[in-house]
Amino acid sequence: MRFKTMILPIALLMSTTNIFAKENIQVIPKPRVMEVTSSEFTVTHKTKIIYNEGLKEQGALLQDLLTNATLYELPISKGYKASKNSVFISLDDSITDNEGYVLDVTENGVSISGKTSSGIFYGIQTLLQLMPVQVYSKTPCRDIEWTIPTIHIEDEPLFAWRGMMLDVSRYFMTKEYVLQYIDMMAMYKLNSLHLHLVDDSGWRLESKKYPKLTSIGSFRGEGENRSGGYYTHEDIKEMVAYGALRGVTIIPELEFPAHVLSGVVAYPWLSCRGEQLKVPDYHYISKDILCVGKATTIQFLEDIIAETCEIFPSKYIHVGGDEAVYEYWDDCPHCKKVKEDNGLKKSAELQSYLTNIVADMAAKHKRTIVGWEEILQRGKINEPTVSMIWKGMGGTQEALDLGHKVVLTPATHLYFDFPESNLPGEIKAAGWMPPISVEKCYNFNLSKYEQNKNVLGVHGCLWTDQFIHGKSLQEIDLLNENRSENYVTYLTMPRLLALSELGWIPHKDKNFEEFEDRLATHYKRMDYAGFNYRVPTPEIVSTTKVDGGYMIELKSPIEYATMHYTVDGSKPTPYDPIYTDKVKVAQLADFRAITTITKTNHSVPTFFFDDYKKYKSFGQFAKKISYKELKEGDNIIEINLTGKISDDANYEITLIPLTDKLSVTIGDIDIFKRNDKSGSASYDTTLSSSPITKSVSISEWQAGTPYSAKIEAKVSAENRGNFAVFVKKID
Ligand code: ACM
Ligand code: ZN
Repeated sequence: MRFKTMILPIALLMSTTNIFAKENIQVIPKPRVMEVTSSEFTVTHKTKIIYNEGLKEQGALLQDLLTNATLYELPISKGYKASKNSVFISLDDSITDNEGYVLDVTENGVSISGKTSSGIFYGIQTLLQLMPVQVYSKTPCRDIEWTIPTIHIEDEPLFAWRGMMLDVSRYFMTKEYVLQYIDMMAMYKLNSLHLHLVDDSGWRLESKKYPKLTSIGSFRGEGENRSGGYYTHEDIKEMVAYGALRGVTIIPELEFPAHVLSGVVAYPWLSCRGEQLKVPDYHYISKDILCVGKATTIQFLEDIIAETCEIFPSKYIHVGGDEAVYEYWDDCPHCKKVKEDNGLKKSAELQSYLTNIVADMAAKHKRTIVGWEEILQRGKINEPTVSMIWKGMGGTQEALDLGHKVVLTPATHLYFDFPESNLPGEIKAAGWMPPISVEKCYNFNLSKYEQNKNVLGVHGCLWTDQFIHGKSLQEIDLLNENRSENYVTYLTMPRLLALSELGWIPHKDKNFEEFEDRLATHYKRMDYAGFNYRVPTPEIVSTTKVDGGYMIELKSPIEYATMHYTVDGSKPTPYDPIYTDKVKVAQLADFRAITTITKTNHSVPTFFFDDYKKYKSFGQFAKKISYKELKEGDNIIEINLTGKISDDANYEITLIPLTDKLSVTIGDIDIFKRNDKSGSASYDTTLSSSPITKSVSISEWQAGTPYSAKIEAKVSAENRGNFAVFVKKID
């Protein structure tokens, strides 16, 4: 640790804080050292911005960031020291971390020093977070005292890589939206924006040498349903410069050898089969991957990497590498020849052969490749690379042992295309893994890797493969609108804030409840900044059994929000009664409550789930089948098992009777991978008083693909009843 000030627990330091200051110190990510004193400094139209050598752009950016809300155009000049009533920014070589900064606010003014301009930018971000929330407003906010508590902060990140991936291939996001995304990241000190520019259903990067990549490969669908788009070199230059000023490096991803059908459609000779295909407008993983055996493919890669390096100055170039299926390589004479010539036994090893070629191409441009973890799992990779660990954490140690660096982006904690909860009414999102709450993301324990310099950091992913339905992403019913990019923001916020702190402070210093308290103010900051977010649901503080029912006590997760509730099982709206005190309900199952920010911006309902804890040994709850949905005679019951089927394994499907006098004849149970049957168990058993279990074996599991079960069930009118279905992974 390199801080000049001795580190004291923040709570102790805060004890000197006055009420005014304490309310305003809600910085995310939490600064590493913070000393609050009991006075304040107020920014007025006379406050000067003074920048030291090399920081003109940062000075101008600060001036700009303050203008919309305050209407001040603060005088700005170059200078070597602070003066009274100034914000002085300067570089300081004694700060060791490239992104570190020191911020001092006294009654006389503000000083921010950083090792680099990124550190200065972070000092500015912290300063904004210490100011009234209106500072983010795009329109003038009059009658606000732009006051800042007096404070000393020394800060630096835990991990050097704190990133987000945006899947602009499956859903094309405009340049303007990408710039907004950079603002969202920059506000919370994330520094790497990874653009997933290539995938089966869209090529998003202009190529001067291969123009069909965009004229053909970036569009899909016909007629009214045609959609797509791409970034020109000019667009990219603008994004890169916008990010650079805000400490955000843009890392391009070109996917090889799979997930590249859009390129293959544009130039069919890139694949082994050479067939003319179409850019798909739904998600699947194409088996038509790049042919490794043709010299033309290798030339293509060399050209594309050269063009990419020309417009992206990032040290790292992401080359994809995930989820390749090698079937066509097995049969291709060109690929077979490369295998023979290089003594490779399996087609899979051709992937490492290709990765080494691509790594050498990138090295010619002084770049290092990043790839999904599969790049290390298909044979020997000659030079150190960066591996993005996404299939849980299992691949981490293996990559480190092989001498590579890693970036952690496990789907279990950091894929923000999964919903935050499984509450009914939660917006539609990817379903092949369980939900990822803010708390789950925040509490992800990386203490084992904090001191390992080869663990570069943490990275959230926002895939859009599950949402490509025509031109737009899912509707956000809650907001009664269908502005797709708002949907991406909704999935991002506020989990991005949890990711930010995960990457900034050690695990031992994290405390979720305290983080949640700080988070509450940030909803307001996001409102002013114009960033959409998921409104958190009311918290149930207590449930007490009383005569004739239960008393329920709630707490609003956002201090200025109201809560509305219903007691008849209906979905609450902002026009239902406002919660002010404990509410009595006859049955817990009939209670619902929402957090309301405005009439159109509110949460999904909190409610009480049926208590299935006693059936825990049967695995995960999948569905309750109510007698109401069973008709007399033959029924086919459909159950969504996406997320419950989560790997190649044997699974036990257990049916548990929930009511007396139940008698259901169960026929076959078929498991479907999207529309194809993937496993089956035949039953012909009667479900009556005790649970029945059957096992099915699943192979060729595929991430991102929905799974479901269809159960044949025959009932008579008098023996209908409720039962539940549970699923357990066995090995
Ligand atoms: C991935 O999720 N296929 C990297
Ligand atoms: Zn081939």
